[in-house]
Amino acid sequence: MSRSLRGTGTANPSRNPTFGDVLATRLSRRDFVLGAASASLVAGLPGCATADRGPGPALTFTAIGVSTEDVLRVPPEYEAAVLLRWGDPVGAPAGMPEFRHDASNGPADQALQAGMHHDGMHFFPLPYGSGGSAHGLLVMNHEYLDEGLLFTDGQKAWSAEKVLKAQHAVGVSVVEVEERDGAWSVVRPSPHARRITARTPCRLSGPVAGHPLVQTAADPGGRQVIGTYSGCAHGWTPWGTYLTCEENWHVQFVNRGPVPASQRRYRITATGRGYRWEQFDARFDAGAHPNEPHRFGWVVEIDPLDPRAAPVKRTALGRMAHEGAACAVGPDRRLAFYMGDDGDFEYLYKFVTARPYDPARREANRDLLDEGTLYAARFNAHGGGEWLPLLHGQGPLTTAHGFGDQGEVLVNTRQAADALGATKMDRPEWVMPHPGRREVYCACTANPARGRAGAEGATPVNRRAPNPFGHILRWREDGGDPAAVRFRWDVFVQAGPAESGGTISGDVFACPDALWVDARGVLWVQTDISPTSLGTGPFAPLGNNQLLAVDPVTGVFKRFLTGPRGCEITGFHTTPDIRTAFVNIQHPGEVPGDRSNPEAPRALSNWPDHRPDGRPRSATVVIRRRDGGIIGT
Ligand code: FEO
Ligand code: CA
Ligand code: CA
Repeated sequence: MSRSLRGTGTANPSRNPTFGDVLATRLSRRDFVLGAASASLVAGLPGCATADRGPGPALTFTAIGVSTEDVLRVPPEYEAAVLLRWGDPVGAPAGMPEFRHDASNGPADQALQAGMHHDGMHFFPLPYGSGGSAHGLLVMNHEYLDEGLLFTDGQKAWSAEKVLKAQHAVGVSVVEVEERDGAWSVVRPSPHARRITARTPCRLSGPVAGHPLVQTAADPGGRQVIGTYSGCAHGWTPWGTYLTCEENWHVQFVNRGPVPASQRRYRITATGRGYRWEQFDARFDAGAHPNEPHRFGWVVEIDPLDPRAAPVKRTALGRMAHEGAACAVGPDRRLAFYMGDDGDFEYLYKFVTARPYDPARREANRDLLDEGTLYAARFNAHGGGEWLPLLHGQGPLTTAHGFGDQGEVLVNTRQAADALGATKMDRPEWVMPHPGRREVYCACTANPARGRAGAEGATPVNRRAPNPFGHILRWREDGGDPAAVRFRWDVFVQAGPAESGGTISGDVFACPDALWVDARGVLWVQTDISPTSLGTGPFAPLGNNQLLAVDPVTGVFKRFLTGPRGCEITGFHTTPDIRTAFVNIQHPGEVPGDRSNPEAPRALSNWPDHRPDGRPRSATVVIRRRDGGIIGT
């Protein structure tokens, strides 16, 4: 999601200036202290290599230049094909309505078609457990909306029907995909094909289920929520479930009365972002329904193998603007899930399960995410850091300080992390474990507000004030164990041009967002320069948003893909054999303000259809090397 959508400045008023008295400390890569680790540590983590710190993977593809054109470019030895656009039928047996290029499909059609604004994505091989690379389920988020493209006449003549179509255009798609002779297609119909939307019944689970803070008039038991939306980045489990992560869910809510501090901390305002859902779905009026916002902001587990299973909101993982939940497997098979809270001056989190997962019995892991410990990160100077547990009764998280029980700690995750003194970050987006190197990488997209009057200035871990270009951090848990409570960190790269403090070796980029580590150990970095910055000032030489590959050993970045105008690049994901990559091109044609003029839908982009009567459409793209070789070589 673009920054213009989330608003500027900080909703974090806490005075926990972890580095307030500490001068910025420059750490070279040599200062990154690596602990001992065994290769067995990562056994069982899908899609990841087990080699320890050997030579880096070869990146021999032809790097490409920047682009300002309305096309998608990949190296000449590669080919890219559109697989699934907004409005394409997902293949559900209930119906496969064709997309109408004037956006006149109604809400019933949209409930059977791919949503808008494709984001994080994961490939689950079929059959389950096969580890295959030619047939599987592709599960993806549809993060948000552009009503100027979604409706023929935009937000004019606003109606219950339009709200319903909007709510059906977000959520998640599950599609069955297969490769034949190097060409991928969506299997239609498929018994697995499914849309999950802002109207799909979901179950609340974990410590907050049934809590008074999530009880509403429509759900006095506090256990059934209608819908999930604003899913960003992604997560996965070793038992083949998908985690959609509710990020900017707050912009659909409005509160025209006095906004309580608990809602302000989650950026709820009188106007939201003008979605106007509350006009026909009253629960989005957070003044009249103050507990409804508590039912969003969670990590939601979806079983793609069971199209009838209700999505489950796993409240033990905390409530925030969730940006992904990337899984690492510990030596004792307990799992850690790394999670960014994407906002200026928000925090990094991880959740560690109480119990190990059982690789032999899928059903034994069904409720594993309901028990465990949520931590927020504190980055100390000189490369040390610790994970602070969000546990009721410990430290300041007591009734005397306004936290009555663990449910209140989790509903108010941000306030609990404030109280613990977690480190304020520059919009922590995707976090990605690198099992082969036993490191974890985090993209901090940007924070132009850092250093403004009243806001925190530069710190060792967020070194630029302001920080319009972002940076990538990495750390290593003590002993290489994802469940450890201490770590060592360094700044992997400062993005942006060298004259603006960038430290990039190789091809230049800004605003790193989505990350992926493939089975060879290549780190793939995708960018999200906002439409207000794209093509302007110091961002102009960087062109459209892009995808780069970097060998973590050399730290040299190579540009692999450039997107069409106005898009962000996200969701890059590879099959287990690394011979196919999927990537999502989100919001081509997005304009400042993020809402297109319905009378000029092709003003900036007409990708991918380029029809004279069409409109830009977010889409999943399949990338293959023309000779079928390994992606990145
Ligand atoms: Fe949806 Fe933080 O990007
Ligand atoms: Ca983003
Ligand atoms: Ca993102």
